[in-house]
Amino acid sequence: MRRLAVPCVLAALALAVPAAARAQAPSAAPSAAPLAAQLPAETPQQKEARLQWWTDARFGMFIHWGLYALPARHEWVKKYERISDADYQKYFDQFDPDLYDPREWARQAKQAGMKYAVITSKHHEGFCLFDSKYTDYKATRTPARRDLIKAFVEAFRAEGLRVGFYYSLLDWHHPSYTVDRNHPQSGSTDAEYAALNAGRDMDVYRQYVKDQVRELLTNYGAIDIIWLDFSFAGGAHGKGRSDWDSVNLLKMVRELQPGIIVNDRLDLDDVPGGWDFRTPEQFKPRGWVMVNGQRVPWETCQTFSGSWGYHRDEATWKSPAQLIELLVDTVSKGGNLLMNVGPTARGTFDQRAKDRLAAFGRWTQANGRSIYGATQAPPEFKAPPNTLLTYNPATKRLYVHVLAWPMGDIVLEGYAGKVAYAQLLHDASEVRLSERRATIWMDEAGKTGDLVMRLPMLKPDVEIPVVELVLK
Ligand code: GLC
Repeated sequence: MRRLAVPCVLAALALAVPAAARAQAPSAAPSAAPLAAQLPAETPQQKEARLQWWTDARFGMFIHWGLYALPARHEWVKKYERISDADYQKYFDQFDPDLYDPREWARQAKQAGMKYAVITSKHHEGFCLFDSKYTDYKATRTPARRDLIKAFVEAFRAEGLRVGFYYSLLDWHHPSYTVDRNHPQSGSTDAEYAALNAGRDMDVYRQYVKDQVRELLTNYGAIDIIWLDFSFAGGAHGKGRSDWDSVNLLKMVRELQPGIIVNDRLDLDDVPGGWDFRTPEQFKPRGWVMVNGQRVPWETCQTFSGSWGYHRDEATWKSPAQLIELLVDTVSKGGNLLMNVGPTARGTFDQRAKDRLAAFGRWTQANGRSIYGATQAPPEFKAPPNTLLTYNPATKRLYVHVLAWPMGDIVLEGYAGKVAYAQLLHDASEVRLSERRATIWMDEAGKTGDLVMRLPMLKPDVEIPVVELVLK
């Protein structure tokens, strides 16, 4: 039996119930402890070591690419406009990314300062960019005629970037996947759902997911990250861990790729070992993300303009300054940033995305030392107004990111005696330090213990200038 926590008698009863009725039964969520027992055990130190490369990397690229790039009005277009399979078919028939060159994507990601990339192998629409044995709804059957994931993996690895797969648990094309509230054909009454789901069988779909995830984690070498997306267990006509058979799916993932890093959307939040990191989406947390009073690894995923898939007419693109601040803010709270690009249906990055990646690159090339291997500053160092702090524990350097360029000085309260040297990071030019501010008209002695950084009047030509403090 696949649903492990269900006692045998209940399991036998469940089998006796017709598939459509089973699909409608509220998912009895198995409790956390027996589920955890089925997953590999690991000490906190082992987990930290497994995640080390990722924690040091801090900055990755998310790539949302699929048939939705053709309508170019959001990757949820099939749901938002309630498009039928028949009407969506035109995007499959026309999908011809003739300019697809993943080496070029990889170069841009690397140049931007990103250290890993996660690509949608299948999104909610159900279309597979990879060559799966278990479906014809895949790139190799479109005019693209090739396994787009294979080329992607090779290109990104060649640039020295780590590789991850996003795989959608939702599927708006698979005939056995039961219609739920997020499905394009969602209903309004229970009776409507029962009629819609006659003949659909989640047992078949659950097997399909396992088969495909096995392919992804077997056919493409070592995969560094898997992003299984997503669960919506609460409320009517949702889906959660018993719908996906999450624990057995995760168990298989860990068996196939013991080193892999897994996100937190399998509806296993309460299960020890059920996730590796938290994923606040398009959200800037106020501090280090905590679970049960403990700091946990976290990664915020963010878009340039609100949509994940290529969106031609979306106009709310974030500025380079906003984006770089987002990266710094994330690291200042001990997190990672997964920055999304939605390539076009030709297989290219839109110019607006290219410009922003280039802006990231200009900044990270000169200031990356404040990001890679860096984390939240120790509590004894308070950030002055309009600054963000990061800290590298290995080199004992503290980074002051200056968001609003001051007129001369920045006072570092309580830093006196702790700093050996200070310089602007991008050009290693000295920043002079003193313990008091004074003119002939006024001597602002300040509190003992403060330190004053004397910055040039002119803001350097850097989006967000950084002062590097070498601590004693
Ligand atoms: C959500 C959306 C999806 C996007 C993902 C990224 O779950 O459904 O479109 O892929 O978030 O985090």
